[in-house]
Amino acid sequence: MKKIMAIALSAAMLMGLSACGASGAPAATAAKTDAKSSYAGKKLIMATNAEFPPYEYHDGNDIVGIDVEIAKAIAEEMGAELEVSDIAFDSIIPAVQSDKADFGAAGMTITDDRKTQVDFSDTYATAIQSVIVKEDSAIQSVDDLKGKIIGVQQGTTGDIYSTGDFGEDKVQRFPKGADAVQALSTGKVDAVIIDNNPAKVFVQQTSGLKLLDGAYTEEQYAICVKKGNKELLDGINKALADLKSSGKLDQIVNTYIKAE
Ligand code: ARG
Repeated sequence: MKKIMAIALSAAMLMGLSACGASGAPAATAAKTDAKSSYAGKKLIMATNAEFPPYEYHDGNDIVGIDVEIAKAIAEEMGAELEVSDIAFDSIIPAVQSDKADFGAAGMTITDDRKTQVDFSDTYATAIQSVIVKEDSAIQSVDDLKGKIIGVQQGTTGDIYSTGDFGEDKVQRFPKGADAVQALSTGKVDAVIIDNNPAKVFVQQTSGLKLLDGAYTEEQYAICVKKGNKELLDGINKALADLKSSGKLDQIVNTYIKAE
């Protein structure tokens, strides 16, 4: 009898213990979920400038492109809903700094200066700045650009670097890359310096233009968040890592950039 009591007791103790463990486990999981997404069920606002195919551009009423797909995957991973806010390129960092947007995704190049204003995620693409000229242009390389008028999208690295290299008065700034390309077509500028993938799209869409061989600069794209927003940055980096390892990032890129 005593023995049976003892067994029953230890069984109860065991159950008690395991009950303790069981109730401990969900609590830990819940805590983890909470930490993962104070964004869960909320809206994440992506600031972009949808004038930059194939990364972000208008398709009818929609804004589509590589960055939009990446941002959707990030939002999904964080259990949040994505809203895309289409603004001027040089308003993206101010929007992120002032909480008008949660992050900026706009084929944005990491630069030392921008790093003082926002925090950047891990990089998700390498790009180069390309030079577009008219098909019959005498400009054959970057060296021939000296003294010429260069069209750029305002506030981009094309603007920043060419202003540094060729001088303030040699650079004409346009609100959109496509406007700079238009100015090249009509002879108002001699060349356009812009990221290679948009450059290819613009050259394809406009007759009489070509891309010079070679790169003006090499750059890395990343997503930016407000300085110190570690939770969002961690979420973005985790989602980017998952997109890379699962092959989904390549898949997205291949949908928008056809191999030559
Ligand atoms: N990569 C360049 C930069 O960061 C140009 C980006 C332009 N992006 C855009 N969505 N318009 O300055």
